[in-house]
Amino acid sequence: MQYIFDQGEIVDESMVSVSVRNKGLNYGLGCFEGIRAFWNESQNQLFTFRIQDHYRRFYNSGKALHIQIPYSPIELMHWTVQLLRKNNVREDVYIRPICFKGSNTLSPDLLDPFNRVSIYSTRLVYIPKPALKVCISSWNRSGNNMIPPQVKSTGSYLSAGLASSEARLNGFDEAIFLNDLGNVCEGPGENIFIIRNNQLITPPISDNALQGITRDTVMQIAINHLQMPVYEQSIGRTELYSADEVFFTGTAIGIKPIINIDNRIIGTGNVGRLTNNIRFFYDQIVRGNHPNYLCHCTPVY
Ligand SMILES: Cc1ncc(COP(=O)(O)O)c(C=O)c1O
Repeated sequence: MQYIFDQGEIVDESMVSVSVRNKGLNYGLGCFEGIRAFWNESQNQLFTFRIQDHYRRFYNSGKALHIQIPYSPIELMHWTVQLLRKNNVREDVYIRPICFKGSNTLSPDLLDPFNRVSIYSTRLVYIPKPALKVCISSWNRSGNNMIPPQVKSTGSYLSAGLASSEARLNGFDEAIFLNDLGNVCEGPGENIFIIRNNQLITPPISDNALQGITRDTVMQIAINHLQMPVYEQSIGRTELYSADEVFFTGTAIGIKPIINIDNRIIGTGNVGRLTNNIRFFYDQIVRGNHPNYLCHCTPVY
């Protein structure tokens, strides 16, 4: 039996139902988060990673969308830990909190006061390949005055779905969005980094990339442990092709090397040395094995 959190209690998932009239389903009026918990085998412990930051972003998503999330971040953290315990999770899992509008009226407005929150967890290996072949999407990332890109709104993932599906139908593993100015933005569910001359470069948030939590962790690793200069600056499409290394970051995907873009080989065509170094630190940090980052790891048991 799988338990989920729904409307203030932990319940058997098979007992939960959602009205077909709800506005999350009809219009994509909702917001969500993606959090991970990592199993530490040697310590026999499960840690959530940066759960406070995720719930803070969840709140800010709600704020931007007129969705008042009916539980505090602390309450949601508490419920998440309870849920993982109830499901006796002893492996790496992905946790999905979602808040969506109810079904009191038909109109696609965000002013309906009923906001429903659920949380579930699942095993997830997101794109199970060691390194990716990707393409620039024909779909652009939505702009700030369209669907706000700094918000994890359920509706905005329609363009993610279009871009990922197009990429896969064309024989690629994933897509890269440009923004409406033609600058490199991010993947459908990932931030993007390039390495050039030992420098780490990622698009600024103002280029319509999500303020990723993994993105932030990677920048800290590069600065604190690899002494790499880090720049948040606009990246042109052709700069991708000539980069030494390119990789995606995200809670779902982790740190994923990109070795081919638009049928151009990136660097040597193999996983880069610096990408591997960053990934090494990331794996230590998220699993509670690095003393400097224990404050980011919340023990479940
Ligand atoms: C569009 C988009 N960009 C980037 C990311 C990566 O963000 P994070 O590292 O916080 O998971 C995600 C996933 O949350 C995403 O959906």
